[in-house]
Amino acid sequence: MERSRAPLSVAILGTGAMGRYWAYRLRAVHPWVIGTVPPPYEIFDGHTKVVLVPRYYPWHESPPAAPDVVLLAVKWRQLQTAANWIRRHAADSILVSLMNGMGQEEALRPLDHAILLCGTTTAAATRDDREAHTIRVQSHGLTFVPAIPEHEGVQALATLSQAHRWAWAWVSTADILQRRWVKLLQNSVINPLTALADCPNGEVIRHPIWRLATPLLTEGMQVAARQHVPLPDDLFPSIVTLAENTAANLSSMLQDVRAGEITEIEAINGYLVRTADAAQIPVPTHRAIVHLIHGLEPQVTS
Ligand SMILES: NC(=O)c1ccc[n+]([C@@H]2O[C@H](COP(=O)([O-])OP(=O)(O)OC[C@H]3O[C@@H](n4cnc5c(N)ncnc54)[C@H](OP(=O)(O)O)[C@@H]3O)[C@@H](O)[C@H]2O)c1
Repeated sequence: MERSRAPLSVAILGTGAMGRYWAYRLRAVHPWVIGTVPPPYEIFDGHTKVVLVPRYYPWHESPPAAPDVVLLAVKWRQLQTAANWIRRHAADSILVSLMNGMGQEEALRPLDHAILLCGTTTAAATRDDREAHTIRVQSHGLTFVPAIPEHEGVQALATLSQAHRWAWAWVSTADILQRRWVKLLQNSVINPLTALADCPNGEVIRHPIWRLATPLLTEGMQVAARQHVPLPDDLFPSIVTLAENTAANLSSMLQDVRAGEITEIEAINGYLVRTADAAQIPVPTHRAIVHLIHGLEPQVTS
């Protein structure tokens, strides 16, 4: 497929909260949006309301050219749909994944893509249940992406992100690995425990289920240590602080459970269990948690 003639074309996969958020944040470069919910999107950012009409292609429709950059903003349950789209339309593009959880490398390995950049973000947005096209920006946060200075395309993307002030920090691969593990361990405690206790982040630290936080973190840190990932010493207090600072928020896993959706447990605690199994490290608490969360998900009948 012919490549786009724009300086750097960007396709965002997913029309959920983050797909729309990135369409808004990156609007200066006119990204395309791929998914199931067509624009217009209403973005509430503090007291500002912006109506966004990006170029949109449903999953089954071909874009006019291969994008230079693909930003993955789907949930894990749609990752195969996204992977199929990439295979057909963007097999050698730069892929940027800002999805929560880990294991994108394995999930996307069959793709003949040029490069996969897995980052983390503290940007946050929620879909409005009542208005199908509306999102509310919770935080613009900071996004960390691995810098690959020797790669011309990645360098061009880094320059673009700085020129348009996207608040993307380009850091070393060692730094990004630590940040991804810290986020994975935070999510592996707060997400399933709030989903099981059916309460906002601020309440879970006072709920009896919080007794499981210590074994979850201890097991997770053992897995990280075996992967030679250095972790900060204050991880447990930082998770408590995170829950307090986001006290009113409902975790994405709780939102998925309440909406009757498949959760991202397999990419979070499930990833830890698979990694632990490969290294023969016992992680009984994570294993039990994965099982319990699956019990809250809709049962898929074959
Ligand atoms: N939301 C956040 O604050 C946040 C922050 C950091 C990281 N993340 C991560 O970013 C990724 C995407 O999360 P997300 O929050 O964007 O997920 P989401 O809002 O639940 O969207 C997920 C998918 O749901 C579909 N969808 C869109 N509108 C819908 C509607 N009104 N009703 C039902 N389904 C709808 C879309 O499918 P199509 O793709 O087919 O259009 C979309 O890709 C995840 O890995 C998440 O963990 C999220």
